Amino acid sequence: MAALRLRQLEEYLQQLEVFEKPKVLLEQYATSAHIASHMLYTAQSQFNDIEGKSVADLGSGCGVLSLGAKMLGAGYVVGFEIDSDAVDIHSGNCDDIELHVEIVQCDILQCLPGKFEGRFDTVVMNPPFGTKRNAGVDMRFLETAIRLSGNAVYSLHKSSTRDYVLSRAAQLDAKGTVVAELRYDLPRAYRFHRKASVDIEVDFIRFETNR
Ligand SMILES: C[S@@+](CC[C@H](N)C(=O)[O-])C[C@H]1O[C@@H](n2cnc3c(N)ncnc32)[C@H](O)[C@@H]1O
Repeated sequence: MAALRLRQLEEYLQQLEVFEKPKVLLEQYATSAHIASHMLYTAQSQFNDIEGKSVADLGSGCGVLSLGAKMLGAGYVVGFEIDSDAVDIHSGNCDDIELHVEIVQCDILQCLPGKFEGRFDTVVMNPPFGTKRNAGVDMRFLETAIRLSGNAVYSLHKSSTRDYVLSRAAQLDAKGTVVAELRYDLPRAYRFHRKASVDIEVDFIRFETNR
């Protein structure tokens, strides 16, 4: 399925099932097909970081980023996800579209990097932002991602945390560059807000972990 156009990728991703009963404490909101396709397409078309590469997806949820990477021709993809219901949906998505990636059910903060240290060319993720009594979880995801990756990490972070994210990455020898600034539509369940959803400002960041 290599050499997909951006629009085709977005259309394929729109067909995937997403969380049926999202777990608020795990910050289970799926990356929209629009954002996921742009993230992955940029990683491939501008940096050549997907096709033929080994790719890890941390907090893979229903598999939007893992399966998108596979659609763009990634050589080997592993999704790491703590929640068995999400793993089931991801697995069903693989069957439905007849595209297979490995899924490992684990708490990435406990089980990684382990034997996976430096084993992936590219890590992609949309980590929990740390808004649900789990402050700092986004940074722990990032630290883990940097240790897993031998080349690049692509991640989403609240723009309000940009300076901290970039300086922490630099301490870990990873140079972060903001590739795009996004408006992210967060469902009401995740914010104390009266509206059905609320836009937050989010950075799409590429971290160079070349070692
Ligand atoms: C914002 S969602 C993103 C889901 C998916 N990657 C996507 O892009 O649609 C964050 C995901 O991280 C998972 N997660 C949260 N804490 C985790 C942990 N400690 N280990 C593994 N997965 C975790 C959640 O269950 C959820 O699926």
